[in-house]
Amino acid sequence: MYEELEKVRTECLNCQKCELSKSRTQVVFSGGIPNSKLMLIGEAPGFWEDKTGEPFVGKAGQLLDKIFACVGLNRKEHVYICNTIKCRPPENRDPLPEEKSACREFLDKQIEIVNPKIILLCGRVAVQSILGNIGGITKIRGKWFDGKDYGFEGKKFMPIFHPSYLLRNDSREKGSPKWLMWQDIKEIKKEYDKL
Ligand code: URA
Repeated sequence: MYEELEKVRTECLNCQKCELSKSRTQVVFSGGIPNSKLMLIGEAPGFWEDKTGEPFVGKAGQLLDKIFACVGLNRKEHVYICNTIKCRPPENRDPLPEEKSACREFLDKQIEIVNPKIILLCGRVAVQSILGNIGGITKIRGKWFDGKDYGFEGKKFMPIFHPSYLLRNDSREKGSPKWLMWQDIKEIKKEYDKL
């Protein structure tokens, strides 16, 4: 598995299939551990990710680590982390359709090789990439989607809020985005513990 992933990573680091390859500082292939039953797919690298080559290391990433830590999970032991696209879009704009399709083979190979049982789709862009247009994130977050309906037999997906959305919504009151995230991460841990 490590060798296969390493091959894909090397291909990805040399990729020049879209315009983002010209503006990137570093390709951000993955973080966390490859032999994991839990995978998280984010949107795209931001400023700090582009600088360091690691996914989710900026403010949103630090919050993500805290959320995982609440239920005893961390990226060194429990989760494989990647993004729908591997290079930073200028000004952090949404990835363009041609960027997503150019990068898709890398994401598909990561899912195939890591072969996680649970995949968290972090934010709208990740949800759309995998599940298509199935509704707004507020409606679908926290629900399980069976992979077999989307070409991923034996896996289950859960859309969750993007941590950058939580950073903009500070309330912890019942029903607030942060409160909902807390419900979701507890449900995720419950399923994870069954594996
Ligand atoms: N936001 C993402 O979606 N991914 C990252 O790697 C960093 C911020």
